[in-house]
Amino acid sequence: MTVDGIIYNATIATFDEQVSAPYGMIENAFLAWRDKKIVAVGDNIDMQAFNAKYELDAHGKLITPGFVDCHTHLVYGGDRAKEFEFRLQGKSYQAIANEGGGIMSTVNASRSTSEDNLYNIAISRIKRLQQSGVTSLEIKSGYGLNFESEVKLLRVIQRIKQDSPLNIIATCLAAHAVPKDFSGTKDDYIQWVCEELLPEIKQLGLADAVDIFCESIAFSQQHAQQLFSAATSLGLPIKGHVEQLSQSQGTDIVCQYNGLSADHLEYADEHQVKKMKVSGVIPVLLPGAYYYLNEKQKPPIQYIRKYNLPVAIATDLNPGSSPIFSILTAANMACVLFGLTPEEALKGITINGAKALRLNSKGVIQKNSDADFILWPITNPCELVYETPAVLPNKTWIAGHQQEI
Ligand code: NIG
Ligand code: FE
Repeated sequence: MTVDGIIYNATIATFDEQVSAPYGMIENAFLAWRDKKIVAVGDNIDMQAFNAKYELDAHGKLITPGFVDCHTHLVYGGDRAKEFEFRLQGKSYQAIANEGGGIMSTVNASRSTSEDNLYNIAISRIKRLQQSGVTSLEIKSGYGLNFESEVKLLRVIQRIKQDSPLNIIATCLAAHAVPKDFSGTKDDYIQWVCEELLPEIKQLGLADAVDIFCESIAFSQQHAQQLFSAATSLGLPIKGHVEQLSQSQGTDIVCQYNGLSADHLEYADEHQVKKMKVSGVIPVLLPGAYYYLNEKQKPPIQYIRKYNLPVAIATDLNPGSSPIFSILTAANMACVLFGLTPEEALKGITINGAKALRLNSKGVIQKNSDADFILWPITNPCELVYETPAVLPNKTWIAGHQQEI
């Protein structure tokens, strides 16, 4: 069989659940790809069956799937360095938000930044993420919060989708906060999102999913219910920022609507973890926000393990609670702060990150998966989460094409 490329003498962390070794590891291995897909993975001995236009001896080095960052807010204007300083002078994240800072300050900066500028800044942020091995990512709106600006942010994401080789998922997070200039209550705002904004965004084809910030400082369970019902009737899958700063019970509503994922989860309890298991909702941990906000309540890892849920890890890249530009830093934090094993953390940014976005052919190296993979200058996958800043990729392929990063 003629293929586009072969890499041999590799140590391949496949994250294939059919491979019983930790990390789905195969040593002295090759992989072959053709037409954007992996066509074979296995012992070097079996590579004789393939002819390749491109061949590379990996000299025993590690190959992993390209990483999936399933939760980012990376299209925004401005920065919040000043608020970082305020927090360290003793002001809380909630207090800053209540005084009109926080999300609203990024909304103001994003509204006054042109679409082209937002696009250029976002592309440079994605380059930084790529340097930590990311090849697929989700990007949310949520810093526009009026018709014109939410559409502007989603258009930027759309342009990135078209121009970038990375696989991008767009999520509408108009239910992030009620903007100060909205004339009405929270209920009115959610009603506007459900009845006017979402149908239009669906019509324009600008979103793949819908998200909400369910929290005492943001939206309630009832608001989530209304939003998810509207999204579902438009055929859009849902997810939520839930149980981050308190028991908001948003997780229960995400489960009720068989959402893609429930994200943050510091305050989730055993009952909610069971519900996630039953409804197929993927728990997504965001240790960057926990770290930057200096939180003390840890997500219920013991129950996630007890009920054997696939757990994903993401950067939550945003200017306020998680200005983290490396998925490997997020994975390292999941190990150090939440006690995940390196294997759990790396599954969280590969196969389980892909599950959180229902991307079945990403985050894994197996026959018929997408040819998105990274060659690293190391041999033991644990090293990926060991050093900070993390080791850099040696070479990256997306859809079978080697990338210049
Ligand atoms: O995921 N929790 C709500 N949204 C973001 C923070 C956004 C911000 O502070 O700008 C988060 O942590
Ligand atoms: Fe977030």
